Amino acid sequence: MDGRDLVRSVRMVRAVGAAQGLRSVRAAWRRSRADARALPRRGAERARVPGEACGAEPLPGGGVIRFARASLRVRVAAGGAVFCGWDGAGPEPSYALAGACPEVDPRVVLEPDTGGGWRIVSERVLVVVSRYGAVEVRTPGGAMLRRELPPRWWDRVAEGAAGGPVDGGGGAGPEAGADGGGPCGGAAGSRWVQRSEVAADARFFGLGGRSGGPRLRDGVYRLWNTDPGGAFRPGDDPLYLTMPVQLVVADAGTHLVFHDSSWDGRVLLREGAEGAGSGHDRPGTCELRMDGGPLRYWVLAGTPARVLAGWTALTGAAAVPPRWALGYQHARWGFGGADGVRRVVAGYRERGLPLSAVHLDIDHYDGHRVFTVDRAEYPDLPGLARELGDAGVRLVSIVDPAVKAEPGNAVYDGGAAVDAFVRDARGREVRGVVWAGESAYPDFTDARVRKWWGALYAERLAQGFAGFWHDMNEPVSFAAFGEPTLPRSARHDLEGRGGDHREAHNVYGLAMARAAYEGLCELRPGERPFLFSRSGWAGMQRYGGTWSGDVATGWPGLRASLSLVIGLGLCGVPYSGPDVGGFSGVPSPELYLRWFQLGAYLPLFRTHSALWAGRREPWAFGPEVLEHARAALRERARLLPYFLTLAQLARLSGAPYARPVWWGAPRDRALRDCEDAFLLGDALLVAPVLEAGAVRRAVRLPRGRWYDTATGRAYDGPGRVWVEAPLSRIPVLARGGAVLPVAGADGGTELEVWAPAAGRTGGGVVVPDGGDGWRRPAVERFTSRWEGGRVVVERRDGSPAGYPVRVRGLPGEGGGAAGG
Ligand code: GLC
Repeated sequence: MDGRDLVRSVRMVRAVGAAQGLRSVRAAWRRSRADARALPRRGAERARVPGEACGAEPLPGGGVIRFARASLRVRVAAGGAVFCGWDGAGPEPSYALAGACPEVDPRVVLEPDTGGGWRIVSERVLVVVSRYGAVEVRTPGGAMLRRELPPRWWDRVAEGAAGGPVDGGGGAGPEAGADGGGPCGGAAGSRWVQRSEVAADARFFGLGGRSGGPRLRDGVYRLWNTDPGGAFRPGDDPLYLTMPVQLVVADAGTHLVFHDSSWDGRVLLREGAEGAGSGHDRPGTCELRMDGGPLRYWVLAGTPARVLAGWTALTGAAAVPPRWALGYQHARWGFGGADGVRRVVAGYRERGLPLSAVHLDIDHYDGHRVFTVDRAEYPDLPGLARELGDAGVRLVSIVDPAVKAEPGNAVYDGGAAVDAFVRDARGREVRGVVWAGESAYPDFTDARVRKWWGALYAERLAQGFAGFWHDMNEPVSFAAFGEPTLPRSARHDLEGRGGDHREAHNVYGLAMARAAYEGLCELRPGERPFLFSRSGWAGMQRYGGTWSGDVATGWPGLRASLSLVIGLGLCGVPYSGPDVGGFSGVPSPELYLRWFQLGAYLPLFRTHSALWAGRREPWAFGPEVLEHARAALRERARLLPYFLTLAQLARLSGAPYARPVWWGAPRDRALRDCEDAFLLGDALLVAPVLEAGAVRRAVRLPRGRWYDTATGRAYDGPGRVWVEAPLSRIPVLARGGAVLPVAGADGGTELEVWAPAAGRTGGGVVVPDGGDGWRRPAVERFTSRWEGGRVVVERRDGSPAGYPVRVRGLPGEGGGAAGG
C-alpha cells in the first residue's frame, strides 16, 4: 500500500463507513489474487520497429505501405479524416465510431516520395510516410501539423522461443528513437509506444476530463478511468472520464488525433519552445505508451470548428437534452425522504426561484440497491413525481451499475438468470464492493446484457423519473489498496470478440450509457432520453453528457470545474457541468455564489454535494447571495432559447456550447493561453470570477467589438481589458453584431441584437424549440447591419426577422468604446 492508497483508504472509510471498509479490504485482496493468478506475466518480449519500407500498394483512399517488420494502412475518408492503422489494424471494430466507417475519398493518390518514402495526397491533408515509418500530417500547403515517429512494439515471445527478449539492435533507421529486431506481425496484446512531434508553438487540449487544463501542460496523463476517491483537486489525474483524444492548436493549424485503443495508457506531453529568432525551435512532443490494443489512429485537421465537425461525423452527433435539462437543477445526497424533497422544492417556489429538476441520489434506494425505492422514505414516488411535475419540476434518478449480489434482490436474480454479470477467468462471478455492499457488475460490452439492462429503466419510468444520472461506472469497486475497480483479468464479451477488463475498463461507462439510451428509446420512443454519466469514452456524446464528478470545494475546484467542461467539449462531449459549490465541503458564501454564477452559463447547471457537505440551496448562504443567485437563475431562464439553439448546433456541427476563447482565432497566441474565460456559442464571452475577493477582472478579448452586457459599455479587441465584476454578477460580454434568441417578458422568443461596430455587420442563428421529441427544427439564420442610422435585423434571405427585436449597445447606452 503506497501513500496514495492510504489517503484513498482514509477518504473511503470516511465515505462508506467501517463495515464497508472491511469489505473493501477483502475485495482489494480478491482482486489482486485474481490478477496474479489469471493475468499473463510480462515474460519475454521482443522490441520491434517497422524497419525499412519495401513497397506500397495503392488502395481506395490511400494504400498500404510495407516495411521490413510491419505494415501501415493509410486511408483518407471523404471528409478529410485520415486513418492510419499499423499491422493490419482497420478502423473497425471500434467503440468510438458512430456507425459504419466513413467512405473513403476516391480521389486520394498514393505516390513515391523522395528518400524512399511515400506520399498520400488529398484535398485537405497531405500525409508523408518516411522510409522508416515516420508519418507526417501536413496541410495541403505543406505546413507540418504532426509528425509521428516510427512506433515501437514489444511483442510477447512465446514460451520456449529462441533468443529471449531483444531490445536494441540495428537496422531501424535514424528516426526510430530506439531500434529493434524481431519477427513480423504484432498481436493486439503487444505494448507499444508512439512518439510524435508538433509545432514549437502548439498547445495541447483534451484527453477527456482533466482537472488541470484546459491547456494541458507538461506532464503525464493517464488513460484509465478512475474514481479518485473522496474529492479531486486540480492536478489530480486521472479522473473518471479519460479518452485518447487530443486537440492540438498551433499557428500552422489545428488538428485532433484519436488513438483508437481502449487499453490503459499514458500520455507524456511536453510543450515546445521557440528559438526566438535563432531558428532552433524545440518541437512539442507527445509520447503515448499503451499497454495493448491496436496501434491505429485518426487525424482530423482544419479550423477548430471544422475539426470538431469532422469528429462528430466520425463518432456521432451529440444527444440533445430535453428543454428542461437546460434549466437549473438541484441534486442532493440525503434529501431526507419525500418530505425533504417537498420542502426544498417549496423553498424554490416560495422565493420565486426557477427550478427545472430535482435529482435523487443513492439514499432514495432501498439499502442502496439500484432500481429499488426506499418505501419508508418515499412511500409514493410516482405521486411525488406527479406533484412536482405539476409545478414544472422533473425527477432525475441516480443509477449505479453494480447490483447487490444477494439472492432475492430481483435485479440480481434477473441478471443472474440471463448470465449478465462479469465473470473471472475461472468462470466465477466477479464481486466488488460499492454502496450496497458486495455487488456484481453487468457486462455492458455484451449486446444481450445491454438489452436486459435497458429494459430495467421501465421501473424508473414507472416511478416517475424523467432523467438518469449514471454514477460509479468507471466502474468502481471500493478498494483499500490497489485500483478501485474490477480485476484486470475479469472477462468481458466485447461484442462477441471476448477479452478482459484491460480492454473493457475504459469503455464500461460508455457501454452502460448505450444500454440505457437504447432501452429508453424503446420504452419511450416519443421522447429524447436525458442521461449524463460520470464515466465514458470517445463517442459518449451519442448517448448523453457528463458532469464533473466529485470536485473538491474550494477556489481551485471552481477553476478545475471550468477546465473539465472546456476540455470535454473539445473531445466532442458538449453537455457537462460541475457540482456547483463543490462536492466535498462547505463553501463560503462568496465561493458558492461565484460557482453558481459560472454554472448559470454552463450546459449542465446543477447544485450538488456530498452527504456530509451541507446544503446547496441558494438561500442557505444569506440574503445577499440569494438575491444574486436569483439574478443568475433569471438570466439562465432568459437565455434558455439560446441554450436550446446551442444544444441543436452541438448536434449539427459538434461545436460545444462552452468553447475556449480561441475558438474562432486559434492563431491568437494570447487567446490560446487564456484559461479563465470561455465563449458561450458565438455571441457571448463569459468571464467567471475564480478568485476570492475579486470585484474586477481582466478579460482577454478576441478581435472585434465586445459589449459588457451589464453596462452596455463597448470594448474593441483584440486586447486585454479590465471589467467590473461586483458580487452581483460575473462579466459577460456580447460580440458586436451578435443576434441571439432570448425569452421575452411574455415568455416568447425575441432576438437580442448587439449593434455591430460602425461599418461592420453581424448575425446569428436560432433553432426554435422543437419539443422533447425527435422533431428537428430548421436552423434560422439572421444578419444584422447598420442602415440609415439604425440597426436592421433580417433573415438571411432578406425577409423580416419574424421575432420581436431588441437592439442593445446603441451609442449612449454604455458610454461608447473604451479600452482595446
Ligand atoms: C459519487 C458521485 C456523487 C454521489 C455519490 C453518492 O461520489 O460522484 O455525485 O453523490 O457518489 O451516490
